Amino acid sequence: MKRWRLDPSETQLEDMQIFQEICNALRDGKLVAIPTETVYGLAANATSGTACASIYEAKGRPSFNPLISHVDCLEAAQIHALFDDRALKLANAFWPGPLTLVLPKRVTSPVSDLATAGLESIALRVPRSQVMQALCRATGLPLAAPSANLSGRISGTTADDVINDLKVHLSYIIDSGATPVGVESTIISLLGERPTLLRPGGLSREAIEAVLGEPLARAGTDDSAPPAPGMLTSHYAPNSHIRLNAQSVDAGESLITFGSTLPEGSDQASRLVHLSESGDLTEAAARLFTALREADLGVDGKIAVMPIPFHGLGEAINDRLERAAAPRG
Ligand code: TXA
Ligand code: MG
Repeated sequence: MKRWRLDPSETQLEDMQIFQEICNALRDGKLVAIPTETVYGLAANATSGTACASIYEAKGRPSFNPLISHVDCLEAAQIHALFDDRALKLANAFWPGPLTLVLPKRVTSPVSDLATAGLESIALRVPRSQVMQALCRATGLPLAAPSANLSGRISGTTADDVINDLKVHLSYIIDSGATPVGVESTIISLLGERPTLLRPGGLSREAIEAVLGEPLARAGTDDSAPPAPGMLTSHYAPNSHIRLNAQSVDAGESLITFGSTLPEGSDQASRLVHLSESGDLTEAAARLFTALREADLGVDGKIAVMPIPFHGLGEAINDRLERAAAPRG
């Protein structure tokens, strides 16, 4: 595995030899870890069934759980899916950015059935990552990329996280430091009559509803909105037992804090990990997965988490914490 340390402000990527090497690796069906604004992605050629199969194999991921295809612009996305007015509105407002759209797949799309797990729909996203966009443009390929972690584990927001989980499977990793958003993209399905939130993420529900001019249905909460195939209840699983909405701390627990007021018993915590001392949800999202890893190093195998508000990015943060706390299947 070769590590490329890339300054995120670098612009002349196409002229660099390593960039061309990585394009060739992707054309050959190899796996490359690439930073996006949300989390690191484990990327491969989405049009190749064997390349997508190696993604599933590397992650240890159940093959019924479809992958997001990443492209560099709306025009490229339209090769793969049918965009109605709502889809165009959202794409124009939020791409590039942390939004994934689930849309009817065009029968002419070259994206492999393995990437979409045989569904008639496809999940598409234009990431804000310059390097990922440049790789899509230079290769002319859509890139299938799940979060670069072992299936069921915490998503990687730094290159070291990714290397710890996936080193043996990677041909390259592009290291541009910690990813700024820190939680995965928000996934919206536009397959049904009502736009549906399949996964809260780095773009808030409020921002999306403002552009659509209607409320989002929430997957799994009403019958017209079946959950995303990959929304397993236990996910993002650290080794420790997690207790949410902690109003007090037991001796030996690791405490994940939010805001400046600490709960009763905080002095007995084995370690304190701060999501955001100023109570800022954007900062908390960016630190969430690193905080879970750090808290997981506590001696007692117990993590208490202070309450996090549910508005804005708080919806995604609470969703990930609930999955991390869920009983393991
Ligand atoms: O921020 C992100 O979205 C990151 C970066 C790398 O882009 N990617 C990511 O991918 O989080 P992944 O594979 O970890 O999560 C993708 C989710 C899965 O829960 C999957 O079930 C859902 O998207 N999904 C993919 N295609 C779908 C489809 N056609 N219908 C419904 N859900 C779909
Ligand atoms: Mg994931």
